[in-house]
Amino acid sequence: MKHLITNFFILSSVAISPAVQAADLEAAQRGEALFMQNQCDSCHGTNGQGGERSAGPKIFPNPTPFVAFELQLRTPRSLMPRYPVQVISDAQLKDLYAFVESMPQSPAASQISLLKNAMR
Ligand code: HEC
Repeated sequence: MKHLITNFFILSSVAISPAVQAADLEAAQRGEALFMQNQCDSCHGTNGQGGERSAGPKIFPNPTPFVAFELQLRTPRSLMPRYPVQVISDAQLKDLYAFVESMPQSPAASQISLLKNAMR
């Protein structure tokens, strides 16, 4: 187990090398432009917080895994418009997801003083 944990840390430190981070940042910036161009923000909000009157659910931070994201854009499960490959290419879909993923994670409820006090 200890060995596994050590390997995990070695692998994750390789994964976040500065070169990779720069590439991720560029992808996220292209993704942000796509998010606005395709008007995702009109239903999901500019901060992915979800739209007014339930226009679209909260989609970030803490997004769904990439496979679920791809499935939703290509074959939406209900009211959301479809984004076929002619509108958003596979590469653009990855950039969009890089943007969604780049949003800082929400703090745990225990870290929010207002909520911490409410739970007492
Ligand atoms: C017209 C409003 C509308 C637009 C525009 C829109 N969405 Fe959605 N989205 C929704 C709704 C409503 C849902 C809930 C599921 C459904 O109706 O298919 C949803 C669901 C999602 C989900 C799944 C969330 C979950 O928790 O399962 C993702 C991811 C998502 N949208 C991403 C996007 C992205 C990225 C774009 C832009 C390319 C976009 N949406 C554009 C309305 C919209």
